[in-house]
Amino acid sequence: MVTTPLLPSDYLDLVSPLRAGADLRGRIEAVRPETSDSATIVIRPGKGWRGHTAGQYVRVGVDVDGRRLWRAYSLTSPTNRRDGRVTITVKAIPDGKVSNHLVRRAKPGTLVHLDQPTGDFVLPRPRPAKVLYLTAGSGITPVMGMLRDGACDDVVMVHCAPQPQDVIFRGELHRLVADGTLRLTEIHTDTDGVLDITRLGELVPDWADRETWACGPAGLLDAAEGFWGDHGVAERLHTERFRPGVVVAGDGGRVTFSSTGRTVDADGATPLLDVGEEAGVLMPSGCRMGICFGCVSPLKAGAVRDLRTGEITEAETGVLIQTCVSAAAGPCDIER
Ligand SMILES: Cc1cc2nc3c(=O)[nH]c(=O)nc-3n(C[C@H](O)[C@H](O)[C@H](O)COP(=O)(O)OP(=O)(O)OC[C@H]3O[C@@H](n4cnc5c(N)ncnc54)[C@H](O)[C@@H]3O)c2cc1C
Ligand code: FES
Repeated sequence: MVTTPLLPSDYLDLVSPLRAGADLRGRIEAVRPETSDSATIVIRPGKGWRGHTAGQYVRVGVDVDGRRLWRAYSLTSPTNRRDGRVTITVKAIPDGKVSNHLVRRAKPGTLVHLDQPTGDFVLPRPRPAKVLYLTAGSGITPVMGMLRDGACDDVVMVHCAPQPQDVIFRGELHRLVADGTLRLTEIHTDTDGVLDITRLGELVPDWADRETWACGPAGLLDAAEGFWGDHGVAERLHTERFRPGVVVAGDGGRVTFSSTGRTVDADGATPLLDVGEEAGVLMPSGCRMGICFGCVSPLKAGAVRDLRTGEITEAETGVLIQTCVSAAAGPCDIER
């Protein structure tokens, strides 16, 4: 009663936000530029942090212009870092709200919200004898977490970036090459052109014998999945996508978020998660790419289209939709 309308925990949050039992948060302790448009964010997680497996990602909630936005970022720190801090490495994308905020504006001391690490883009135990990492751009981040864990003996990496200065972690990668831990081929797409996956054998003759982890833009991953499939070794390829593959868009419609009382016009290609956030509606979210179901919301009326398949879902009692991969297909009402 004494502290109403705030709870005692609200006061504790002010003095000890990282304490055990509090909602999981982290304090940004440093922001280290990596390239002209990427930076590593050093975070001290709160007491409830359970630790991660190399290759996993964490959802980070960041307050940008007064709104909390959640995004997934791969953990780039080794799992055994003694100081208890973790790192994510973020590449600022054009018009990207959270990535630009973290790379260009985040300051040490800032608190961010965290979820426990998750994801199955990880090395199995026992470790494979021969590994290939196939990465491009910021897709290097989960693999850097694996490399820093130093787990495998025979590691080959093919990494693509526009120019040498765009290669995130380049100095560290070259040190690993120098000490014999890694064999690396860099492809600088501005001068070499994009990687022709059908010629991978010229770079890595035994690629089909290697267990492969690939992360990068959809074009690279789609080509890799086709290539591995054509050679009958699809089970040796593990991929991580940073955004869902959108194959179908249609007409949009007027979207009502009935719990909040907001109504906006949406096109048929923008995920309802983005539509709701843009309208200031508090939308639950997770991976933002259709894998975690952290964004499901009841569809009360109308119809939505699954952007990955084109499948239409119509409202009926109890229907839940994944707002991160669904767009309006005519007028609809989302219970948020
Ligand atoms: C499992 C997982 C791990 C991830 N790990 C990392 C990581 O380690 N480092 C990292 O930098 N990012 C990572 N991402 C991507 C990250 O979650 C965000 O999608 C990215 O930072 C863009 O967010 P934003 O708020 O800046 O862009 P938004 O404001 O959401 O989007 C701005 C514009 O960019 C487009 N867009 C959104 N995401 C991307 C993207 N990834 N690439 C190109 N265009 C995009 C949108 O369609 C929109 O047009 C990961 C994503 C997933 C699902
Ligand atoms: S946010 Fe993960 S499935 Fe939609």
